[in-house]
Amino acid sequence: MLIAHTIAELRHHLAGFSDHSFVPTMGNLHEGHLALVRQAKPLADVTVASIFVNRLQFLPHEDFDTYPRTWDSDCAKLQAAGCDILFAPSEQDLYPEPQTFKVQPPPELADILEGHFRPGFFVGVCTVVMKLFACVQPAAAVFGKKDYQQLMMIRRMVQQFALPIEIVAGETCRADDGLALSSRNGYLSPAERLEAVQLSKALQGMAAAVRAGETDIAKLETQAMAALSARGWKPDYLTVRRQSDLQTPTLGAPLVVLGAAKLGSTRLIDNLEV
Ligand code: PAF
Repeated sequence: MLIAHTIAELRHHLAGFSDHSFVPTMGNLHEGHLALVRQAKPLADVTVASIFVNRLQFLPHEDFDTYPRTWDSDCAKLQAAGCDILFAPSEQDLYPEPQTFKVQPPPELADILEGHFRPGFFVGVCTVVMKLFACVQPAAAVFGKKDYQQLMMIRRMVQQFALPIEIVAGETCRADDGLALSSRNGYLSPAERLEAVQLSKALQGMAAAVRAGETDIAKLETQAMAALSARGWKPDYLTVRRQSDLQTPTLGAPLVVLGAAKLGSTRLIDNLEV
């Protein structure tokens, strides 16, 4: 695996390859990321992964400084997964001057759910992804469904800017008990780790109720939030939305249940398509 720490090195490594597939990450890699890399492999003749902890998508009180940087094990895992080129720019290289040009996603997509609880998050995500796309120039990029709203946002961004990039969705990888794999699971204490699966269990319960014909979505959401709160969680939202745009359900539309909740000081998110 070749490693590029600067945009110039990346362009040098990419010269000669006609199409590139891409998996952007913030490192601290787990099986979920590696599955995305394996999914990206057959999509092009060279596969690039990036590791860049993007300051722009963290709020001041969030974990930018403490976000786990696990360089050696990330490199070994990417190499084993068949990644061809790792792009790991420094902040100085990706943001040599303050990034004052930004991608501003529309409020109806960016200010709901994750964006409501993490204002500015999707401006940061869309801006860095646009810049990474400009560096890697992929024909295809793979994003996990675990970050469902992010995947939808990137799809819309690519469509509206007419970027010639196929956005491919990767299924969420789960631990044996059903907990969605996440770089932030490492923050959980052993007792919290045992409890953590309750978020996906709550979403499963909501999805089952919707499938069984429950139409009182507000009641379902309130009950699920109350049940998690009673176990000591601090839920931000547990909600049923349309898959297409994450707006409130309408008759016959494919649905997804999404949740975000804090367990101790760790904020977890998960979702299930219904
Ligand atoms: O999903 C992530 O890890 C990040 O939001 C991404 C897409 C790499 C942008 O920083």
